[in-house]
Amino acid sequence: EDPAKLAAFEARIARGEKIEPGDWMPAEYRRQLIRMISQHAHSEYVGMLPEGAWITRAPSLRRKMILIAKVQDEAGHGQYLYHAAETLGATREEMMDALLTGRAKYSSIFNYPSLTWADVGMIGWLVDGAAIRNQTMLAGCSYGPYSRAMVRICSEETFHHKQGKEMILAYANGTPKQRAMAQDALDRWWWPSLMMLGPHDQDSPNSGPLMKWGIKLKSNDEVRQEFINEHVPELQEAGLTIPDPDLHQDEHGNWVHGPIDWSEFWRVVKGGGQCNKERMDARNDAHAEGAWVREAMQAYASRALQAAD
Ligand code: 3HC
Repeated sequence: EDPAKLAAFEARIARGEKIEPGDWMPAEYRRQLIRMISQHAHSEYVGMLPEGAWITRAPSLRRKMILIAKVQDEAGHGQYLYHAAETLGATREEMMDALLTGRAKYSSIFNYPSLTWADVGMIGWLVDGAAIRNQTMLAGCSYGPYSRAMVRICSEETFHHKQGKEMILAYANGTPKQRAMAQDALDRWWWPSLMMLGPHDQDSPNSGPLMKWGIKLKSNDEVRQEFINEHVPELQEAGLTIPDPDLHQDEHGNWVHGPIDWSEFWRVVKGGGQCNKERMDARNDAHAEGAWVREAMQAYASRALQAAD
């Protein structure tokens, strides 16, 4: 990189300026953002599947309408994020191909099955709760389009989080069977939610450049600590038990969790989770079924071009 341009860029970051699509930026800054934003978009796109499976089986019209609205929001979040990545020069075709061929990642959390209706509530509480912590941090990101997308996404996630909490609180205060369903969902979603926020800082190779250039404003462990400190008291208040026998508070009031099974995390990230194949098949099938729409748009666009000539 041109040292003078790099110095000027880093001075802009230090001043807290937003970097916009047409601005000069280091190639690595651009590469890191395309990696992170496209995988964030893939997470939203795949993330629709665990909850989508319950839309036809929601226990009431009200719950069905809320769930439809939430899944629709996730699709919209995916769109914002794919567009943010496109402002950096990535194309939708390249990003989609990277996802569908397994070269790109999406959040590990979505490779776990949503086994009961209580899972839908626990996903809202824990997964969207973790996403809000992470995305609130990213709203301060130095890249303008990403940071602005986060502002809109966080406001919608807040609704997702609240509806999940409302559901779980109803079941935790309901019949013994409902309480057991809520506890079973917590038992299965707690640890994957901690893993969702990424490896420990010392095992996070991307955090260095991301924090140097103001893309990530807090480390994986900082965001995880915020998440745990917020949700442990609330889940205990709801009468649920956190499935971590080592969990305790330190002298600073921080909740300290037991060891995370990172071998499970990497197994899931590398394709060996319970639902990886199902999720990728669903996304590949949807892409194949949608081919006629892309062809029709292509035909329309080329005819419009001919008409313009
Ligand atoms: N799932 C899958 N892969 C993960 C992961 C996870 N939970 N956490 C980390 N990884 C991958 C990283 O992508 C990286 O691999 P790569 O270099 O091939 O991309 C590798 O593990 C090492 O991790 P790092 O900590 O070095 O990676 P990052 O610095 O990028 O940190 C992150 C990981 C915290 C997830 C960060 O990428 C991030 O903040 N991304 C944006 C937010 C996001 O993607 N959230 C996903 C959930 S979206 C969601 O929850 C939707 C909501 O509506 C429910």
